[in-house]
Amino acid sequence: MNITVKSPANIAFIKYWGQKNTECTLPYHDSFSMNLSGCFVEIDCQFSTNLKKHELLIQGYKEDYPNVALPEQYQRLADYYHKIKKYFNQSTDVGFTMTSRISFPMKAGIASSAAFFSAVAMAFATYYGKSTHTKELSRIARLSGSGSATRSIPDGFVWWYAGNDHESSFAESIAPPDYWDIRDIVIITSRDHKQISSDKGHEQASTSPFFKKRVSYIKQKTIPQVKKAFSDKDFTRFGQLIEHEALYMHHIMMTQKTPLYYWNEKTISLLRHIAALRDNGIEAYATIDAGHNIHCICEAKNEEVIVSSLDQLAGIEDYIVNKPTFGTRSINLY
Ligand code: PMV
Repeated sequence: MNITVKSPANIAFIKYWGQKNTECTLPYHDSFSMNLSGCFVEIDCQFSTNLKKHELLIQGYKEDYPNVALPEQYQRLADYYHKIKKYFNQSTDVGFTMTSRISFPMKAGIASSAAFFSAVAMAFATYYGKSTHTKELSRIARLSGSGSATRSIPDGFVWWYAGNDHESSFAESIAPPDYWDIRDIVIITSRDHKQISSDKGHEQASTSPFFKKRVSYIKQKTIPQVKKAFSDKDFTRFGQLIEHEALYMHHIMMTQKTPLYYWNEKTISLLRHIAALRDNGIEAYATIDAGHNIHCICEAKNEEVIVSSLDQLAGIEDYIVNKPTFGTRSINLY
């Protein structure tokens, strides 16, 4: 059976950091994101019980990536396959070749694992003839260990309910892509891979002395405030809240037992650049995932002026303008 799946990366407005259960990848609190139209993965999967191997090929952004996956990438996929096989009570092994095309730099804070594992979740569920309904697929994607993959499955603006167990932890669309015409301009300052993967980082989140405070702050303050700004489409309030939330998560990262510094010098200068845009009356806000590249969030009307402001800055390699978009889709099956 051959299956092709397309799945977007997503940018978290309320971030998930830390896992209360690693086996099922359960977070401590809800998180909230938007799917990205310009940052996506397409995978061609060929499954056959006659195939004796599991193979992963990666065609990277601007051909800067080798065609064969790195050993740790292959291992993560193999581990996920074994977990899913057990989850679906399958006794026979199936061989597969997966070819993944990625439209953006990997391992650089743009949710490449979310895009990849949500696509793989859809491919496995389809191959095994299991439910590909959004809610169940979002649970299956989470089992990959990339929790944020759960949020790439539904459409548009997506809420991940933390839950208490496998059943109750799932993602759901809270608004379609056309609900709000906002942009995420992903500013690429370097394609360097991050040194520490987010799954390693999650393991130490609770060692920050500020971790517990963050969890209760998110539940009591951030969630109701972000929900209100989102439903009012109050972009100023929304932007302020999500920028603060990103900085709060990085504060936890930097105060973990082994501090995690995902930023580089350009991250800081871009944070300053975005603040300067605001001082000049252009509403732009920053958010940053586990990596050095910045996501600049703005309304559609300000996209052009922000992009041209980037052209004047030194050290920007590229940028990808993203609109809100659909979730994981099977685009071919034969
Ligand atoms: O899903 P993971 O294990 O790649 O972790 C994602 C963590 C952040 O991107 C930093 C935050 C988030 O909610 O996406």
